[in-house]
Amino acid sequence: EQWFASSNELAGKRILVTAGGTVERLDPVRYLTNDSSGKMGFAIAEAAANRGAEVTLIAARNTVETLEGVQIIQVETAEEMLQAVLSRFEQTDIVIKAAAVADYRPVVRASTKMKKNDGHLVIELERTTDILQTLGEMKKGQFLVGFAAETEQVEHYAMDKLRRKHCDLVVANDVSVEGAGFNVDTNIVKVFGEEGLVETMPLLQKREVANLLLSLVAQRMTL
Ligand code: CTP
Ligand code: CA
Repeated sequence: EQWFASSNELAGKRILVTAGGTVERLDPVRYLTNDSSGKMGFAIAEAAANRGAEVTLIAARNTVETLEGVQIIQVETAEEMLQAVLSRFEQTDIVIKAAAVADYRPVVRASTKMKKNDGHLVIELERTTDILQTLGEMKKGQFLVGFAAETEQVEHYAMDKLRRKHCDLVVANDVSVEGAGFNVDTNIVKVFGEEGLVETMPLLQKREVANLLLSLVAQRMTL
């Protein structure tokens, strides 16, 4: 019943939301990315603005150009997202990391279109920086919300991410379940905190998930 009540409970709070799948280029016309549509992050940004927050959305592979009350910053790569987040982190109260950030990027990015040869092509990948973990290690009172996309042992991996990245909450979704996760308008999530499972949500519109999540954040920030 809470999600259609919009209040001003986040007035004066500065929120940074990341959304979408990052793009890591191999050459000018080819890249690695993932299935993230950005919809969960857009819904959170919009819901936060409705609650009076000052919202910045850092979006990769973005399909949304404007959202009322939201400043949108476009990025492409994990590295660009890292820099965009870091430059604003100090002046931020809440970070919600809904983006699907590439874990690896090509070691070499060709400046001209790669030509094919006979035989196999081996592409060497290197790790990107874990943005959320970086924030977790440097945070000074910021409230951090991570996401965890899993296909098995959801609770185990979500709690592992919460601890490793020093998150206040982790929103886990089982992306192997229909109606949850990438590229759909609905989601089925479990929210974890330091003490374990905090909330289990049924199948809901992402807009409703966003509102319930923000209620939880607002509650726990004033604890
Ligand atoms: N994340 C991040 N920077 C990365 C990778 C992930 O900030 N380079 C963030 C995501 O935005 C998300 C959380 O970490 O909020 C968890 O992402 P996920 O891909 O589920 O976890 P990983 O730690 O990357 O572990 P794995 O992919 O091996 O499950
Ligand atoms: Ca990952």
